[in-house]
Amino acid sequence: MSKSPDRSKLSFDSKAVYYEPEAASKSIGTPIYMSSSFQYDAETYQRVVDGERKTVNIYGRCGNPSEYAFEEQMAAVEGADDCLATASGMAAISIALFGLLKAGDHIVCDWTTYSSTHEMLDHRITDYGITTTFVDTANIDAVANAIQDNTKLLYFETIANPSMKVPAIKPLVDLAHSKGIVVVCDNTFASPYVCRPLEWGVDLVLESATKFIGGHNDAIGGVICLKSGLLPEDFIETIRWNTMVKWGAPISPFNAWLLQRGIQTLHVRVERACQTAMKLATYFESHPDVGRVWYPGLPSHPQHDVALEQMPKFGGMLTFEVADGDTAVRVLDNLQLATFAASLGGVRTTTQVPATMAFLDIPPEQRAAMNISDGMIRVSAGLESADDLIADFTQAIEKATA
Ligand SMILES: Cc1ncc(COP(=O)(O)O)c(C=O)c1O
Repeated sequence: MSKSPDRSKLSFDSKAVYYEPEAASKSIGTPIYMSSSFQYDAETYQRVVDGERKTVNIYGRCGNPSEYAFEEQMAAVEGADDCLATASGMAAISIALFGLLKAGDHIVCDWTTYSSTHEMLDHRITDYGITTTFVDTANIDAVANAIQDNTKLLYFETIANPSMKVPAIKPLVDLAHSKGIVVVCDNTFASPYVCRPLEWGVDLVLESATKFIGGHNDAIGGVICLKSGLLPEDFIETIRWNTMVKWGAPISPFNAWLLQRGIQTLHVRVERACQTAMKLATYFESHPDVGRVWYPGLPSHPQHDVALEQMPKFGGMLTFEVADGDTAVRVLDNLQLATFAASLGGVRTTTQVPATMAFLDIPPEQRAAMNISDGMIRVSAGLESADDLIADFTQAIEKATA
């Protein structure tokens, strides 16, 4: 009898922790295969010639056993049929888009996505004859009106960076699928512990694994997770060979190892981050020098009911507004415990001013359409004590507004 559990029957927490020991050594920690090349013999050579590339290690840019171990773990927690790991979150986004689209195709995308995603859709991808209409995906009529005969893709973020918008996934999927349109979403802000979009019918889920998946601010990587249906079962293998390998964006074996290790504590870390984010959001909402607070767990959030239905943990990210951009920078510069830094999703609480950091390249009128004010501060709740963080923000805001 097999000693392995039936993974499909395991809870999220057990799926995150469990994987098979490595076959040869029975090591329960995945080995790091730091190899760019793999030795052939006549039999493997023949298998590759016969087209059996999936199970043969050929060359590091095509795949690596550390990468496959990470992909398997990631597919388990996202509930995916298959997964491709990539060098970064942006590599995952470009590989998915260029793997799906060709010249003449059209995308409907939410107004608010991560700045580089917006930049790519608004400018870079247009050079290849692919156009995008930006809409508010929380408004299903706006999405329906934006669909054209050549629309191939609907794109949004499960919790938008940094507006914290939470589009209702199921109605968007129903609308898109009724017209044969593939639905792709970026689940970076939520993580699969908070939301699993494939369960709501989304075709492809992308993540910057750099964030909550890795969780320690020490590795860059991305993933593309597939639920087959509208897209064929072999879509991930197709984009591995046709797009990822040709564009040259594989994940490094060491980063794959770090990110797989991150998955094993994802549920514990993110559970705590969600609790702290809720405490911080409640604190900011009652602060006299703070304007609007955006957190899906607050009843004041415009899509609070949607969040309750599709991601009742609400996530570890929030934003709040102070008077203006200068005040925002002063607040963050005064922080002692929380870190003023670009990234998110790690064990340390990180903060930034989206308008003049991540979204610096986006023109002010577009930032306004994305609901990003100059005084907006983004917070990624870490694992420090919530009381210590509140004390830190209290002193930082007090000094900045004195
Ligand atoms: C929502 C979202 N998607 C994608 C990315 C890009 O990820 P990476 O930095 O790993 O390329 C980011 C980066 O911050 C992000 O916030």
